[in-house]
Amino acid sequence: MNLLQRIRDHARSARLPDGTRVFLRPLREADLKHAQEYFGGLSEQSKYLRFMTPTPTLTAETLQRVVEALHADRAGITVAIVERAGEEVLIGGARIVPMQRRATCEFALSIVDEWQGRGLGTILMREAVRLGRQLGYHRIEGTVLTINSKMLKVAQRLKFHLHVDPQDPGVTIVTRALLP
Ligand SMILES: CC(C)(COP(=O)(O)OP(=O)(O)OC[C@H]1O[C@@H](n2cnc3c(N)ncnc32)[C@H](O)[C@@H]1OP(=O)(O)O)[C@@H](O)C(=O)NCCC(=O)NCCS
Repeated sequence: MNLLQRIRDHARSARLPDGTRVFLRPLREADLKHAQEYFGGLSEQSKYLRFMTPTPTLTAETLQRVVEALHADRAGITVAIVERAGEEVLIGGARIVPMQRRATCEFALSIVDEWQGRGLGTILMREAVRLGRQLGYHRIEGTVLTINSKMLKVAQRLKFHLHVDPQDPGVTIVTRALLP
């Protein structure tokens, strides 16, 4: 069986607005060997927007947090992949982790620069919502830099409520109920 067939069998497919097909599946332990490559596909600006601090390299601590989210109860990571030259290439991911308030989960998204602005963020944000609901949360929340207009646009499109943090206007809290 060729790789594309294997990907098709183990993942759901989604289409970007331009018709490109991508595949969505849970992150696997084996994907972590591609973590550096994935990280390398994020520009300094994207890393800053995602981690909210200059993050030149993928630290052991960041990777550890991914591993924890991979194994934690009521957490989940969905990745978007494409096939290129017989290899699976990770192009984006959405993760959900529990927040202190028990019924609320926190999302985070990142997409390698080459694939940004093509509708994948919107697809992965829908995935985060689906995952949060599936894991039994009542609310989903994310902390977004107020300058991150792309992320805020995606959140708005998916009916999240945007609320600039009065303590720190540089940060916008985006939140949405998950109850049916
Ligand atoms: C934020 C992010 C997840 C969005 O994903 P994406 O695939 O680029 O998003 P989409 O293509 O679905 O939608 C982006 C929207 O922003 C718009 N947009 C693009 N550049 C923009 C800009 N500079 N200003 C305002 N809007 C912009 C796009 O036009 C699109 O809207 P449209 O579909 O109405 O045209 C992605 O850009 C990313 O990974 N960024 C770096 C990491 C990050 O910011 N993570 C979020 C922290 S939780």
